[in-house]
Amino acid sequence: MRLEDFVRIIRERNFDGALISPGTNLYYLTGLSIHEAGERLTVLVVSADGDYRLLAPSLYENTIMNFPVTFWRDWENPYDKLAWILAELHLSSGRLLMEDTMRADWLMNVMRLGPFEFYPLSSLVRELRMRKDKHEIEMMGHAAKVADRVFEEILSWDLLGMRERELALKVELALRELSDGISFPPIVASGENAANPHHEPGNRRLRKGDIVILDYGARWKGYCSDITRTIALGKPDGRLVEIYGVVREAQENAFRAVGKGIKAGEVDRAARETTEKAGYGMYFIHRTGHGLGLDVHEEPYIAQNSGTVLENGMTFTIEPGIYIPGIGGVRIEDDVVVEGKGRRLTKAERELIQL
Ligand code: CO
Ligand code: CO
Repeated sequence: MRLEDFVRIIRERNFDGALISPGTNLYYLTGLSIHEAGERLTVLVVSADGDYRLLAPSLYENTIMNFPVTFWRDWENPYDKLAWILAELHLSSGRLLMEDTMRADWLMNVMRLGPFEFYPLSSLVRELRMRKDKHEIEMMGHAAKVADRVFEEILSWDLLGMRERELALKVELALRELSDGISFPPIVASGENAANPHHEPGNRRLRKGDIVILDYGARWKGYCSDITRTIALGKPDGRLVEIYGVVREAQENAFRAVGKGIKAGEVDRAARETTEKAGYGMYFIHRTGHGLGLDVHEEPYIAQNSGTVLENGMTFTIEPGIYIPGIGGVRIEDDVVVEGKGRRLTKAERELIQL
């Protein structure tokens, strides 16, 4: 459990404690995976003295074992119990770190329990979570391998005439068969829809001459992969073939720029210089990548203004893209870990495949 390290850091930074609702931070710090608590108050209280106690609805009475926990029943007021736990842990006032994604109604009720100063939990936990250990990188490597295997499967399917949403569902099923689940709902964007980086798969049928962006990922023991490949059905528009070459080069140049001690912004610049030189800079409308781990988007972000210095064990995507309204788009995305230089976790074919 990483809670001991966390307690040491909150003490060093003069915080009195932390309130952590379910999510990836709770999982990271305690190993507790509590999903979808809904509106029922569920919160881990941690004090700088090293004491901690979970408050959880009685639904979990038979599942949460070997952890200090107080349960509340549906006809009780959970905030009375929370006030009692806070008093017990000497936290009736002071500087509290709060889970960033805590529901606003929970937060508003907590505000009434004492004179607190609130700070975002992410500001501390990001430092721990950004650097992955060997075990975490192994889990991510496996999630990436599943993404590669599903790409191989996709290439064997008869895609012509299939609707985008059908293909997205088939990709999801293939991912679920080989892993713990999906890291986000798969994106399938075909033809002119490929001009929208976050297109929601719809009823458009795939046809000859289409370019198709496939963006999806698997989850393994909590850890995510995230891959994008762009394929062609038959011979696509010559302009899209040209764009494919530019994106491919931008992705390679960004990958080569990765290294320990390099600023994340420099990796973004390597990709952006390539698209700009080719005259497509204005069509590269998003950052080059994002950190990847328990969350599919986390720190470090690979963006133009990012001064974050890359360190060994950091994991993130490199995914430049060019999108031209009315014509379509191309994106190529790999997951990368810093080990001196960069190492790609996703390895599926990157040259343009025409089916
Ligand atoms: Co993606
Ligand atoms: Co991504």
